[in-house]
Amino acid sequence: MSRAREVDEPSTVVVREARRGDADAIVDIDRLVQTPAVSPGDPPDPSQPGDPFGAHGPGDTQVAVVDDVVMGYVVLGRPTPLRANRHVWTIQGLAVHPDGQGRGIGRMLVGAAVDEARRRGGTRVTLRVLGGNVGARRLYEATGFVVEGVLVGEFVLDGVEVDDVLMARRLDASAPPGSTAGE
Ligand SMILES: CC(C)(COP(=O)(O)OP(=O)(O)OC[C@H]1O[C@@H](n2cnc3c(N)ncnc32)[C@H](O)[C@@H]1OP(=O)(O)O)[C@@H](O)C(=O)NCCC(=O)NCCS
Repeated sequence: MSRAREVDEPSTVVVREARRGDADAIVDIDRLVQTPAVSPGDPPDPSQPGDPFGAHGPGDTQVAVVDDVVMGYVVLGRPTPLRANRHVWTIQGLAVHPDGQGRGIGRMLVGAAVDEARRRGGTRVTLRVLGGNVGARRLYEATGFVVEGVLVGEFVLDGVEVDDVLMARRLDASAPPGSTAGE
């Protein structure tokens, strides 16, 4: 059941670590926004109870909350388990409820993920975004990410070849915690 609703400005947006109780709201957001235009994965199956956290639990997910309603989330993870790769964190999921889009929540969530990567000792954050996902690409560029490569025709979605764009941002280890949010 959806817990999200329209945001009445100027409500305050709070970004905090996710809790088990946020699972339904995150799954609801996914069901609303995860289409072939933004994700190469199969759309969530509405007949299945979703577990957005998997084996890692909610600790790698941050949620944006407006008036006690979860309006967005971001997931941070390691690209590989290798020691040689442990300075790198990757944004593995990002979505904002359609009722909350265009109001700076995505920007806050990316900033929170970058801050968390820095807090965990990371010096580099990476992500992948579909070539045609213009809104997300603009958001990442606006928060300091640059294109490092393109996997041309990496996916076939609705019968059309789609590029996967690799983006990354280096972190300034000396920046104080919280300095990235809202960039
Ligand atoms: C991408 C997404 C997370 C953006 O969230 P949002 O809360 O609407 O983004 P913000 O309001 O914080 O926008 C911040 C900046 O991103 C850019 N941006 C965001 N959406 C945009 C759009 N549709 N078109 C162009 N630029 C956009 C703008 O530069 C914007 O800055 P501005 O407001 O100063 O112009 C949201 O649209 C979403 O959930 N999309 C579906 C899921 C998705 O694509 N996830 C990313 C997968 S890689």
